[in-house]
Amino acid sequence: MSSIAPTQPAEVDLLDPVVQADPYRAYDVLREQAPVWEMPETGFFVVTSYAGLDAVIRDPATFSIELGSLGMVSLFRTKAAREIFKKEGWVVGTKLSTDPPTHDGYRSLINVSFTAGRVRKSEPFIRGIIENLLNRLTPAGRCEFVADFCVPLPLRVITDRLGLPEADLEQLKVWSEAWVEPFSYAMTPERELEVAGQMVALQHYLVEWLERKRQSPQEDILSDLATGRFRGERLLSTEEMLGIAEQALVGGNETTTNAIASGLLLLLRHPEAMDALRKDRSLLKPFIEETLRLEAPTQGLLRRTTRETDLLGVRIPKDRMVHLRFGAANRDPAVFAHPDRLDLNRSNAGSHMAFSQGEHHCLGAPLARQEMKLAFEMLLDRWSDIQLDVAEEELSYLPSLTLRALRTLPLRFQPRD
Ligand code: HEM
Repeated sequence: MSSIAPTQPAEVDLLDPVVQADPYRAYDVLREQAPVWEMPETGFFVVTSYAGLDAVIRDPATFSIELGSLGMVSLFRTKAAREIFKKEGWVVGTKLSTDPPTHDGYRSLINVSFTAGRVRKSEPFIRGIIENLLNRLTPAGRCEFVADFCVPLPLRVITDRLGLPEADLEQLKVWSEAWVEPFSYAMTPERELEVAGQMVALQHYLVEWLERKRQSPQEDILSDLATGRFRGERLLSTEEMLGIAEQALVGGNETTTNAIASGLLLLLRHPEAMDALRKDRSLLKPFIEETLRLEAPTQGLLRRTTRETDLLGVRIPKDRMVHLRFGAANRDPAVFAHPDRLDLNRSNAGSHMAFSQGEHHCLGAPLARQEMKLAFEMLLDRWSDIQLDVAEEELSYLPSLTLRALRTLPLRFQPRD
């Protein structure tokens, strides 16, 4: 583990867990000296400047989101793990990860699940979940915030939105964690087999539910997928439904958990911001945007070049992976003044890239924002004197090139009522 901050790109190792725990100095070095940088360990072209990400996102004809016909399976290096999908499950990639004009045909099917009306309608339900969690945690005056609050809230919300039973929550969390693990690019061959097994088990579970929803649809995402018609014409195939259902489950889950945990840690580091929020709840909105900007839960995602191209003066050959570092663009001083500062008055806080931009802009962004807002609002009502219950040096992040995930956040606090 390296402890010296890098000063030039050759010293940057984005796979180093120490760098992943605090990647921001490494991002500065890359953004300033090599905003399009060929990462030695993976061959990815890593893009760190806001202008660079913007150029990639605006040009899907050159930078395709379609990474290959194997979808998620391509992230498995061992043949035995890949075979598990072929023999026991389905080789699927989410059909939302397609380029225009195909993408729009799928996106419009699932957009109905996330209209402003449906998201607003879910507010009492989300309040109820938070109320229950706080009722359980508050009397003790301490909790492990990630496991006790940040995990169950989004999991319960997305399980409900998908139309799945609450009884399956624990199993869904296990599957959801397995699903994001390949994006760590750090699985052993043995772990690849286990993860592939879990992912196939999730596939069978979802396929069974999609079939039920096709028979008796309700107002939920799985029903929208099971009964919606692509371009108003045909029903979706099993593979098509499955890929989107998996993405909605995981996308709605892991990222929001990490956003809430990161937000609370920011408040602990900035007691003046916590005081300001207690006095003026209208500051919750900018606080949430600043949390997403400063600690993007999805730090980076991939595109593939469809032809040889030039990006910010760097030649990228055809068929190469381009890694968009949302977390780095969000701290680009060319766009955000004093970028490392939590600023509740920042005029362009909402321009961050935490939800990406363009046609793949996060479908669940309104839902995630609503969960975050209600979580902080209700928590500040119920808890005062919130403190970290361990030394800050003891906090650690899950190793991942994709997600920014605090492992634990032990807290103590005073119940307010
Ligand atoms: C703070 C929480 C969240 C963050 C940071 C986040 C981040 C992102 C990002 C960066 C993308 C763009 C992918 C790309 O350009 O390659 C995306 C897309 C997506 N997100 Fe989220 N997400 C969050 C919450 C949610 C929630 C609650 C859902 C609920 C279903 C969700 C579902 C999706 C889906 C389905 C897509 C694909 C959209 C498309 O390609 O058309 N996300 N998300």
